[in-house]
Amino acid sequence: MELFGLISIPTWLLVIIIIVTGIYLYFTWTFGTLEAMGLTTPKPIPIFGNILSELTHFVPDVDVKHAKLYGKTYGFYFTRIPSIRTSDPDIIKAVCVKEFNSFTDHMKFDLRSVDPMMNRFITQLSGEDWRQTRNVLTPSFTSGKLKQMIPFIDNCANELTSILGELADANQSFEIKDKFMAFLTDVIATCAFGIDLNSQRMKDQEFVTQAKRLVFQQNMFYLILAFIVPAPILKFLKISIMNAEALAFFKKVILDIIDARQKNKSRRSDFLQLMLDALEENNAPTDSNEPKKIPMTYETVIAQSVLFLFAGFETAGSTLSFVVYNLATHQKCQERLYHEVKDALDKNDGKIDYEMLSQLSYMDMVIHETLRRYPPAIRTDRTCTQDCMVNGIAIKKGMLIGIQIYALMNDEDYYKNPEEFRPERFEEDGCDYKNSFTYLAFGVGPRNCIGMRFALMEIKMVLIHILKQFKIVVAEDTQVPLKFLNGRFNLIPEKPIKLKVERRN
Ligand code: HEM
Repeated sequence: MELFGLISIPTWLLVIIIIVTGIYLYFTWTFGTLEAMGLTTPKPIPIFGNILSELTHFVPDVDVKHAKLYGKTYGFYFTRIPSIRTSDPDIIKAVCVKEFNSFTDHMKFDLRSVDPMMNRFITQLSGEDWRQTRNVLTPSFTSGKLKQMIPFIDNCANELTSILGELADANQSFEIKDKFMAFLTDVIATCAFGIDLNSQRMKDQEFVTQAKRLVFQQNMFYLILAFIVPAPILKFLKISIMNAEALAFFKKVILDIIDARQKNKSRRSDFLQLMLDALEENNAPTDSNEPKKIPMTYETVIAQSVLFLFAGFETAGSTLSFVVYNLATHQKCQERLYHEVKDALDKNDGKIDYEMLSQLSYMDMVIHETLRRYPPAIRTDRTCTQDCMVNGIAIKKGMLIGIQIYALMNDEDYYKNPEEFRPERFEEDGCDYKNSFTYLAFGVGPRNCIGMRFALMEIKMVLIHILKQFKIVVAEDTQVPLKFLNGRFNLIPEKPIKLKVERRN
């Protein structure tokens, strides 16, 4: 083929040139958008945009470094997608609360490649669909409903402390996260699905194997593929950000439970039942003139049950591991906490109840300080759903706002010596962390973490059980200070955290 009558090039070469140019344009077309908005932006490269540094470094450090280099609010190309990243409390307040109606949605992953039902995860839903589903789920997390779960959690915590007792007697160090994950598997199985698993003692159960597959498959590689490769191609190549076999397993488990409950007309106060009740109530005909509700389906309920497992397992497991690590390496804090727990139990005839949990103020500080330093979610996000102006920045519909949770909570401007573990910082004058936009471990605004109260309840309960019987100490093989793996979206220690426990007399 002749080009402009000048050079003769073979057709195959021309096709290659057109394809390469097309790909190049596809991956670079959006470059310049952020700079035009007046945002300082690191220089992007084709295909990767600005993400390369995240693949090879410790992601939370990258976020802190970027905030120092480019300011608390800057532009960032997630592959080819222009986004704004911010750890500025004023902008976070505007996006998550004041202008929430323009930022109702999260970043979307197309999960069709795994199972269409997964597009019903509440995290995936947008606008009115999300609002409706959240309204149905919220009543399951009220203090009244959570109280009913205390006996279930108590049983699982008793099993854990009996195992810890054996390890204390053997004077053996052990991987603490393994123990917490087994405990949490039992808690979620009983509180979410009404299954008494006892995986802490009975190993190798399929529920546990599949739960681990579901939670641990994600990594940056899958995440990036999910962004740049269309869902049908991912499906064809059998690549997914979630393990399809594990999802199918849990879907069947939940369907079987629903089926059995309907046949036997039985009930249990777990999340599944609460959601089924809410579904029935939501779909009941009304004779008022209210606008028509979006009917909920079993599919939505099943999707949320699986999501709870996914969202609540690793987050609570890593929080608990970091709390006990901090207590082992800060014995003074542990003693103060032990005395708070002991006094509270003495006043309450040794019983744990919901009211007592809410009175443990130092426990609250220890947990929140751990979450500040080691947040399980280092970022969250919102997608702009209608053009809007935020603190002088004109944000277009469709643009993604990355909220830098770790960078914010480890910013010297808000937390003096942020690398220090010091729960007392929360009782110092002027530090009303729960009501400030500088503390974001559970997110903020109407789309914050729906499971926060449940998570805090189970974490506090298991800590009480442990502290009243044991002193947590470092072992010869405990890594101090902690070092973390690079290229991950969550804080995973290079070496698993190993500790010892000693019986208190
Ligand atoms: C220490 C434990 C936990 C932490 C640190 C945590 C953190 C978070 C964060 C940061 C978000 C995003 C919030 C935002 O964008 O403003 C979130 C959302 C969410 N979390 Fe949690 N979470 C924890 C435990 C749980 C548990 C136990 C459950 C369920 C039982 C759960 C269910 C959810 C759900 C369903 C959402 C999405 C809410 C929505 O889109 O409306 N989380 N969580």
